[in-house]
Amino acid sequence: MMKLIYNPASPYVRKVRVLAIEAGLMNRIELANVSITPVGPDEALCASNPIGKIPTLVLDDGGALYDSRVICEYLDGLHDNPRLFPQHGDARWTALRRQALADGILDAAVGTRYETFLRPEALRWSEWIEGQMQKVRRSLDVLEDETLGDEVDIGTISVACALGYLDFRYPQEGWRDSRSRLAAWYERFSARASMSETRPE
Ligand code: BEZ
Repeated sequence: MMKLIYNPASPYVRKVRVLAIEAGLMNRIELANVSITPVGPDEALCASNPIGKIPTLVLDDGGALYDSRVICEYLDGLHDNPRLFPQHGDARWTALRRQALADGILDAAVGTRYETFLRPEALRWSEWIEGQMQKVRRSLDVLEDETLGDEVDIGTISVACALGYLDFRYPQEGWRDSRSRLAAWYERFSARASMSETRPE
């Protein structure tokens, strides 16, 4: 049994769980919950992953894989359903670019969450926060113009998890207001069992 070190609030973990559910692999993965912050690492997690981040996947032989991109690609090699990482051509590069875009949204949004929630108020840097949120908004505008389709792959999974995180931590951002196509796409995608089973509380 592989062990996924996780927290239900982490959108990077959610990518892995959504992919594992879509791939039919959850019966091979046990979940181990940790609570960490950039200033409060977990010792056991650091023993498997010196960066101290989740998701980290501990393999049957005791070795570990990280980060979410590497774990997702590893898991995609373990099943016989249609590949969630397209193997060739434009589909591959589109999916990988969308994953990078969605992870970039998350890096900015999660970093800003730490900046606004964890960092003492007197030490906050408002220009940095604004710069990060501009990254999020520009990226969402690009996704609105892409008009995503019905494909289920690492690109669309990553985008859905990023949008889910914005709903979870940034409901006041109102990302749907000027992005009706992206909102309609997300409504369809988030009805999938893999998304409803992994929704953060
Ligand atoms: C959060 O609570 O927003 C969070 C938790 C884990 C990883 C990233 C974000």
